[in-house]
Amino acid sequence: MRAVSRVAAAVLKPTPRVVKELEMSMASASFVGGTAFGVAYERAVESARDDALFVDPYASLLAGKQGNEFSTTFGHLDDPSKLWPRFHKDWTAVRTHFIDRRLEAFEGRQVVNLGAGFDTRPFRLDMPSDSVVWEVDRAEVNAVRHKFFELLGAKPTCRVVSVDLDFALDDLALQDFDTSRPTCWVAEGLLPWLDPQIQIKLIRELTSLSTPGSVVVLNFLDDSDGTSVRESGLDLHSFETADVTNLLATLGWTVIRAHHFGGAELHFGRFRDGYPECRLYSFVVATRDQ
Ligand SMILES: C[S@@+](CC[C@H](N)C(=O)[O-])C[C@H]1O[C@@H](n2cnc3c(N)ncnc32)[C@H](O)[C@@H]1O
Repeated sequence: MRAVSRVAAAVLKPTPRVVKELEMSMASASFVGGTAFGVAYERAVESARDDALFVDPYASLLAGKQGNEFSTTFGHLDDPSKLWPRFHKDWTAVRTHFIDRRLEAFEGRQVVNLGAGFDTRPFRLDMPSDSVVWEVDRAEVNAVRHKFFELLGAKPTCRVVSVDLDFALDDLALQDFDTSRPTCWVAEGLLPWLDPQIQIKLIRELTSLSTPGSVVVLNFLDDSDGTSVRESGLDLHSFETADVTNLLATLGWTVIRAHHFGGAELHFGRFRDGYPECRLYSFVVATRDQ
């Protein structure tokens, strides 16, 4: 899969009526669902840079009026030294780009985005037309994303299947999913919002649906170095990296690699010189061989 060009950014000019309708449809999201606005806002900030790692032409509209506020809330998890005010925005840019690159490298045709929020990848990445992307989130969030693209008249480059479920209550059931085909599983900004036992259940479930050639890209919080999560006041849950890698190994995943913000592959020139690698913002990527 190849990254889309920046051309799309120039053509996205909805009428004032559409903008008004978008605002109305977005007004109802709950707090956790609403965090997707904050991520969209941070992607809009990145997209506006001359040296942007990616351009998400939808991000600014998706952020709505509340995105900036949610972004500030995430800031509670920022660098404690307070010398890097853009810390969380830079992190969102890096994590987005990291996942974009993983998807570009994936040769399969099934992608499942767990906790998809207001992700726009099927619309901004040049995904092969014969691929399918399942976007899993709560019904209220999926409804807003749906309405958004419908109002804009935007079309994805491949098939998109919306799956309404609550990971805390429901089992992972994906309509038209083919268990004989390799799948790339993405969990971006989702796991910290789930209780640890729900995170483990989800990883077990996706493993049971993964044939050889599948890849899992898990973004999680590793707060083993500090107290950021507790002090944030948010209902977030962290995991030690070793616990994630051990779980995946036990379940049969191989080539398991951990990446921390600031590490060689989770950097992209955005991590400030002199700062220690940040384990709080971590990924584990693994593949399934058999
Ligand atoms: C911070 S947002 C990230 C959204 C998206 N992955 C991104 O990076 O742009 C977290 C997402 O997880 C979803 N989420 C959190 N808890 C959930 C649950 N129990 N069931 C389904 N979705 C959940 C929220 O609705 C929200 O869209």
